[in-house]
Amino acid sequence: MSIETTRKKVRTVVFPVAGLGTRFLPATKVIPKEMLTVVDKPLIQYAVEEAREAGIEHFVFVTGRGKGAMEDHFDLAFELDATLQARNKLAEIELLKESRLLPGTSSFVRQQEPLGLGHAVWCARDIVGDNPFAVILPDDLVHAEKGCLAQMVEAYEQVGGNIVAVENVPREDVYRYGVLSPGAEKGALVEVKGLVEKPKVEEAPSTLSIIGRYILQPGIFSILEKGQRGAGGEIQLTDGMAQLIGGAPFHGLRFDGTRYDCGDKVGFLHANVAYGLARPDIAAKFGPALKGFLAGKL
Ligand code: G1P
Repeated sequence: MSIETTRKKVRTVVFPVAGLGTRFLPATKVIPKEMLTVVDKPLIQYAVEEAREAGIEHFVFVTGRGKGAMEDHFDLAFELDATLQARNKLAEIELLKESRLLPGTSSFVRQQEPLGLGHAVWCARDIVGDNPFAVILPDDLVHAEKGCLAQMVEAYEQVGGNIVAVENVPREDVYRYGVLSPGAEKGALVEVKGLVEKPKVEEAPSTLSIIGRYILQPGIFSILEKGQRGAGGEIQLTDGMAQLIGGAPFHGLRFDGTRYDCGDKVGFLHANVAYGLARPDIAAKFGPALKGFLAGKL
C-alpha cells in the first residue's frame, strides 16, 4: 500500500449498533441500548460528537431490526422544533440542533444476522469505499479533554496505517478484549506485532487491550469478506486486523482519558456518576447529595 493511500483523510465513521443489548433488559426491550442515556444524552450521541470533533464528515450506522429510534434521533424533529421556536426556548433549540445530522451526511445499513463485529464492519464496505475509516463502539465511552478519536486522527496524520486505542486492563479481564502483542514504543504509540481476540488469561500476550476505537485501511474489507469465524464462532474484527499486520504500519495508541464500559451495568452507572459530576449545572447539587449518600445519609 502506498504512503499516499495510507494518508488519505479519515472522513467516515462506522458505528456497529446492531447488538440486542440483552444485558440491559428490560430497558432495551423497545429502546436500542445505544439510546440509553448517560445523564441526559444517549450513548450514540456521545459517539457522534466524538467523531465530529475528529473531523469526520459521514456517519454510517450498522443497525438491525428495532433500532429505528437512532435514525429518528438524528433527524429534524419538525413539530418539536416548531413548538420550541414558537415558545422561544433557545437553549432547548440549541440542544436539538446538536442532535441533528445534516442531510446527506449519514447512512443506515442493516446487519441482517448477528455474525460478529467483523461482519458488522464489513456491512459498511460499499459506503466506506476505498478509503481509510474510523470505527467507534458507542458502549465504550471515553471521557477526555480532547476526544479519543481526535487523538487517534492526530496520530494517524503522523504515522498513517491502522491505529487502535488501547489501555491496560487487569489481567483477569483480558478474556473480554482484543489483546496486543506489543512491539516498540514511541511516545503514546505502541507498535502492534500481533493481535488476539478474547484470549484465555494464561495465553494473553499482554494486558494491553483494544477499546472500541479504530482507524482502519479499506484492505480490511477483502479480509472480512472471507467470513472466517473466530472466538465465539463469530467473524471477529480483531482476527481481520491481525491479517493487516506487516503491510501498512499498525499501532496502538495509549489515549489520554478515562474509558467507561457502558455495555456493563456497573460501568454504565459509574459513567453516569462521573459525567454528572463533570457537569457544572448538575454537580452543584449532585456532588453534595452523593457525598451524603456515601456517608450513609440517604
Ligand atoms: C469488542 C471487540 C474487542 C474489543 C472490545 C472493546 O468486543 O471484539 O476486541 O476489545 O470490543 O470494548 P465486545 O465488547 O463486543 O465483546
